[in-house]
Amino acid sequence: MIYLDNAATSFPKPERVYTEMDKCMRDYGANPGRSGHRLALQAGRAIFKTRERLCRLFNIDNPMQIVFTSNATESLNLGIKGLLRAGDHVVTSSMEHNSVARPLAALEPKGIETTFVRCDSEGMLDPKDVKRAIKKNTSLIVVTHASNVTGALMPVKDIGALAAEKGIPFMVDAAQTAGVYDIDVKEMHIDLLAFPGHKGLLGPQGTGGLFISEELDVMQMKEGGTGSSSENLAQPALAPDRYESGTPNTVGIVGLGEGAGFILDKGTAAVRKHEAELTGMLLEGFGEIGGVKIYGPKDPKLQVGVVSANILNGDSGEISYILDKSYDIATRAGLHCAPLAHRTLGTLEQGTIRFSVGLFNTREDIMAAVKAVGEIAAEIR
Ligand SMILES: Cc1ncc(COP(=O)(O)O)c(C=O)c1O
Repeated sequence: MIYLDNAATSFPKPERVYTEMDKCMRDYGANPGRSGHRLALQAGRAIFKTRERLCRLFNIDNPMQIVFTSNATESLNLGIKGLLRAGDHVVTSSMEHNSVARPLAALEPKGIETTFVRCDSEGMLDPKDVKRAIKKNTSLIVVTHASNVTGALMPVKDIGALAAEKGIPFMVDAAQTAGVYDIDVKEMHIDLLAFPGHKGLLGPQGTGGLFISEELDVMQMKEGGTGSSSENLAQPALAPDRYESGTPNTVGIVGLGEGAGFILDKGTAAVRKHEAELTGMLLEGFGEIGGVKIYGPKDPKLQVGVVSANILNGDSGEISYILDKSYDIATRAGLHCAPLAHRTLGTLEQGTIRFSVGLFNTREDIMAAVKAVGEIAAEIR
């Protein structure tokens, strides 16, 4: 199988992820932060190591400001719902994933208003439009770092500078960039960074995280056992315990730590270079096939390793099915949980076939995908 669905979740993972998760399960799978015995302490140290590695990746000073969640969606919900109050206004973009758009829609009846700034037909966001959308009561700007439909990179550094200038908290959905693209929360003025552990960070599914700036008072979504201040019925006030009630996904977090360690050893520049090369090959190859329409910037410098396309007016689901069944190529079709983005691109009806590359894809994989699309296009024409 040629796996080109890395935007959904990366596959396979580096060998060290499998090895350490297995070791954790067998050798030190105790409950961290609760008991004081050797195995519990070892599990606690392993979790802390993951926090430290994520801090190095994102230039975060305090590992305790990283909160583990089960995916980017949970991180986004925690940040958005924990921060906003009735009467607040939010600025976001028209390219957001439902993990941003739906929590915001759910807050609308509670008196929280959202402005969806329109991106252009390539899905690009102009920071000047973000500036124009800001109101007196704007309490959050939240944008995706890169679209999961077109791969288009958003100008987060400019928007971060604008948010800092106006004193508005800035949240970034790094679902498509964490582990692949340099993220520096200080340089980008990011107050809330939501990331999945299972995509570019190469950890297992069921992992994710949220960096919360010490300046913000984000309400927790749950209360319960944390292993700390147990005499007190009030939830601990400090991160990460404030947000991490209940037994954590120790084995998953250990796997995420190994994925992050792998990325740190390799360097995001090398990861990005590899993925940009494969993305360029896809764009060039598809660009030469008559009847194939590519969406987004069509430039590997302006996008991550995500390429969305259609073949004439062929059904995207059917074509993705043919790629799977006849060519053994895994892609994703449809709306990719981002109807707003498809409205922006004009593909709400047809959806798109999404090819998303990962660190373990090869040039041969891409050549096979281009050849397959060429053959399918010839059939349809
Ligand atoms: C841009 C974007 N945001 C959020 C998410 C949600 O991520 P998760 O599946 O980890 O909840 C995704 C998943 O594909 C995504 O692409």
